[in-house]
Amino acid sequence: MVDIRKVGIIGAGQMGNGIAHVFALAGFNAVLNDINDEQIDKAFSVIEQNLARQVAKDKISAEDAQATLGRIGRSNQINDLADCHMVIEAATENIDLKKKILADLCMALNKDALVATNTSSISITALASSTDRPDKFIGLHFMNPVPVMQLVEVIRGIATSRETFETGKALVTQLGKTMAVSEDFPAFIVNRILMPMINEAIFTLYEGVGTVSAIDTGMKLGTNHPMGPLELADFIGLDTCLSIMQVLYEGLSDSKYRPCPLLIKYVEAGWLGRKTGRGFYDYAGDVPVATR
Ligand code: CAA
Repeated sequence: MVDIRKVGIIGAGQMGNGIAHVFALAGFNAVLNDINDEQIDKAFSVIEQNLARQVAKDKISAEDAQATLGRIGRSNQINDLADCHMVIEAATENIDLKKKILADLCMALNKDALVATNTSSISITALASSTDRPDKFIGLHFMNPVPVMQLVEVIRGIATSRETFETGKALVTQLGKTMAVSEDFPAFIVNRILMPMINEAIFTLYEGVGTVSAIDTGMKLGTNHPMGPLELADFIGLDTCLSIMQVLYEGLSDSKYRPCPLLIKYVEAGWLGRKTGRGFYDYAGDVPVATR
């Protein structure tokens, strides 16, 4: 197995900050990279808040929180990641963007380093082909919020070597998380099942079967889900939900994965959920208010 001590994370969004958090907390050195300095600032303040939350809940000590922060470096240049033993790409869910980032990364990165992607739906094999090391490439799909969620999906591309696969699985264990191994099919396991449910909840709203609050209350109290599907869609980001549905629809060529027109409309409007302050709920006040 490859000895991993320093991990780079590309993309300081909601997944990237969580991934940096859990690696640093587990004792790895992490470098959080983004082209946007403001995004990195925001990520660091989210990490600080989430570590403080863990201290307040007695999950970790204040010293551990401080040491964890001290193990996360910041970077706005891909070349800063050259000496990492592994780099995890956690950029926006867009295949062309991810391929470009991966190709640029490989030009800078030492040749023995492993590369992982946190894609939630895109083919690992396709992303691997944009690198100079498909054998050293793997999917490690974290769930949001990363510090809380126990699962990481581990996905091998067609060219992923056994050594890379074993290293990826060992890393998940070192993070104290549990893995589910998935074959490289569109949206893997979790999103193959979760996203059609969320899409169906949006159809249920679109067709007037129920209001936002009736749908979410129904699923929360009727099936014991911690969040209703519309609340969860806002939490994940409606743009991400739409791109996953598109990957399912195109990748499996089955009309049952057709994205709901209302989901498309919300994304066109820029109503992307929590991160933009509006989605199926309005987040302007202290308490989210259902919009339909
Ligand atoms: N960082 C660290 N800790 C956090 C946190 C964060 N970002 N958010 C919440 N927590 C902790 C809290 O401190 C609390 O800890 P204790 O259990 O020790 O008290 C615990 O998590 C629960 O938090 P809250 O009491 O504040 O709130 P809650 O009970 O409503 O739980 C939640 C929040 C954990 C997010 C819960 O609502 C939940 O599990 N929701 C579903 C999340 C989910 O389904 N995620 C997967 C999305 S799919 C995905 O990510 C894949 C993809 O590709 C799209």
